[in-house]
This record gives sequence, structure tokens and C-alpha cells, in this order.
Amino acid sequence: MENKSALLTPYKIGNFQLSHRVVLVPLTRQRSYGNVPQPHAILYYSQRTTKGGLLIAEATGVSATAQGYNDTPGIWTKEQVEAWKPIVNAMHAKGGIFFCQIWHVGRVSNIDKPLTPQIRSNGLDVAQFTPPRRLATDEIPHIINDFRLAARNAIEAGFDGVEIHGAHGYLIDQFMKDKVNDRTDQYGGSLENRCRFALDIVEAIVNEIGADRVGIRLSPFADYMESGDSNPSALGLYMAESLYKYGIAYCHMVDPRMKTIGVKVECPESLVPMRKAFKGTFLVAGDYDRGDGNKVVLEDRVDLVVYGHLFLANPDLPKRFELDAPLNKYIRETFYISDPVVGYTDYPFLETTA
Ligand SMILES: Cc1cc2nc3c(=O)[nH]c(=O)nc-3n(C[C@H](O)[C@H](O)[C@H](O)COP(=O)(O)O)c2cc1C
Repeated sequence: MENKSALLTPYKIGNFQLSHRVVLVPLTRQRSYGNVPQPHAILYYSQRTTKGGLLIAEATGVSATAQGYNDTPGIWTKEQVEAWKPIVNAMHAKGGIFFCQIWHVGRVSNIDKPLTPQIRSNGLDVAQFTPPRRLATDEIPHIINDFRLAARNAIEAGFDGVEIHGAHGYLIDQFMKDKVNDRTDQYGGSLENRCRFALDIVEAIVNEIGADRVGIRLSPFADYMESGDSNPSALGLYMAESLYKYGIAYCHMVDPRMKTIGVKVECPESLVPMRKAFKGTFLVAGDYDRGDGNKVVLEDRVDLVVYGHLFLANPDLPKRFELDAPLNKYIRETFYISDPVVGYTDYPFLETTA
């Protein structure tokens, strides 16, 4: 396998035959007015679809209380399911494979405190947060059920599978990380207890839609939203070992070098022990470019590389990687505006000279 083309070699996940290994990261774009996916998403996702390419949809709420940001899509109502259908259909018409990332933000929801107010990732707005309320033990099965129903709805909408959002300081990560979880029931304390919520959700969804349609995203090393852990390597390893037993489609981890949003740091930690323990399809994200993406695939450290900023700004990213063509620069100020075109579907494709 030649170094520069490793990303462009085929790969099989269960029944899904991928033609290359350049995956679209879930990207919140806040253009789903009233939490309903909009027709402009058809063009946005289609632009990034290739035959045999894997794409993961933006974080999508599992219930009315799961939301934390304006105009992010949901998948708990009939209207939302129907609104996703033409988007998924358009991607399937182009031969894409489309997973829906399902999330619950937990304590990352609005007005008041005590999560310290944070600059939103557009670099401008400051988010305030309400005091979190610890879920009563008997409420937890209801949240797990919301995830199960959301997964069922995603399949009904036509998605090929779901990615459980277990990363970046949102609800599932809040349970896993010992800097946040101060519970005293069977969901708090020991590592096993803190991971129980995530694994209960995995199990419920696997039973509902089948393991081959389930992926999960984790960021054991990150402390986004003040969600850090005192022993992230042990946490990542325990999760990788446990997830392997469910035979899920993939495990997607955020590179340890992405400690906080958008900041890459040198670090001694590695995902290799987790990759080895999980044994199945392993995805990694975190400021990869063409060169280091090819390298990690070639070295068999991962199977697929997931791209965020670069794919946002380059709808034809796999083609550009193939040709080693120059890349468009992303415009941070338009990441989260509600315009249905600007910063969304107006990034140019490579000029075709044929
Ligand atoms: C505009 C934007 C929206 C994002 N939305 C999500 C999201 O919905 N779900 C998620 O897991 N990560 C989200 N992220 C984080 C990315 O998935 C990814 O981990 C990060 O951007 C690192 O990859 P990159 O350096 O290739 O962009 C978002 C990042 C950006 C820039």
C-alpha cells in the first residue's frame, strides 16, 4: 500500500462496503430550524457524499429535553423522521452510507450555572448554563429508552445506523468521567459503575436495531465542558474491551491530542491499546490532514479517519486527497449561522478542467 493512497483504499464494515476511508465527522451546523431537519441539508450532505463513502450526521437530539443548542436537529417526532427521509434518500442515491449521531447534552443546557460560562466554538458567543440536576436512578431507564427509540426512528428514516454520542462532555461522557460524576448509586463511583450508563444504552440499541448498525463516539482524554477523567487510559481501555463484546459496527475515538476544542497538544497518550482491545473497526478524529491520515491507516493504528473542519470546507475532500489538490480554508464565523447557503453549501468544488 503506497503511503499517499492508504486513505483511498476500500474497507468493509459488516455489510457496508466502503470505497475509501475518508469519513465525514458529525458537525453541528444549527440550521435545523425548530429542531426539524431542513431541505437545504439535502444539498449539504449530498455535496459530501461519494459512492461507498461513510458520513456521520450532525448530533441529533433523542428527546425534547436532550437539546442544548438552537436549531439542532432531533429524531424523536414523526415530523423529524419524515424530514430526515429526503436527506437520507439523496445520499443513498449517490451510494453513500449514512449514520445518525444521537445525543443528549445533559448539563450542557442553558441559562444560569454552574458549568462555567464558555465561549462557543464560533469564538464569539458566551454560553451560560443552568444548575444541573442529578438524574434520579429511576429516571435513567427513561433516558435509555429515549436513545433506543431515537435509534429505531433513525432506521425508520432510512439511516444505515446510529453513532451514540458518548464524547465531548455531553450526558454519556458526564457519567463516564470522574471529574463530573458524583453519583452514589450503581451509576457512580467505580469505573464499571460510571460506564454502566453508556453500556446500558449500547445494549438497548443493539437489541433494538442490531449490533451491525451501531457505532459509538468517545473522547476519554478530552475535558470539553469540564468533563475530564483522572485516568483516561483506563477508561478508554475498559470501554473498548466492553464494547467489543457487543460486536458493534465501530468504535470512534477522538485523538488524545485534542484535549480541548480546536486545540492540538503534544501528548504521550495513545489510542493503540484501545484499538487493540476493541478489535473491530476503529475510527479516529482530531485535526488530521491528508499526510497523517494516510500514515495512521498505513501503520494500522486505525481503519478509518474522520475529518471535520477539512470536510466542512471541502465538499469533495476525498477527490482532493486523491489528487493532492489544494484545500479551501474554512470560515469559522459561518459554522453556526442559520443561513441555508452561506458557509454551508457554498464552499467551492475543485474546478473540473475536462
Ligand atoms: C462546526 C463544528 C461542529 C461540530 N459538531 C459536532 C457534533 O455534532 N458532534 C460531535 O461529536 N463532534 C462535533 N464537532 C467536533 C468534531 O466532530 C471533531 O471532533 C473535531 O472537529 C476534530 O476534527 P477535525 O480537526 O478534523 O475538525 C464539531 C466540530 C465543529 C468544528
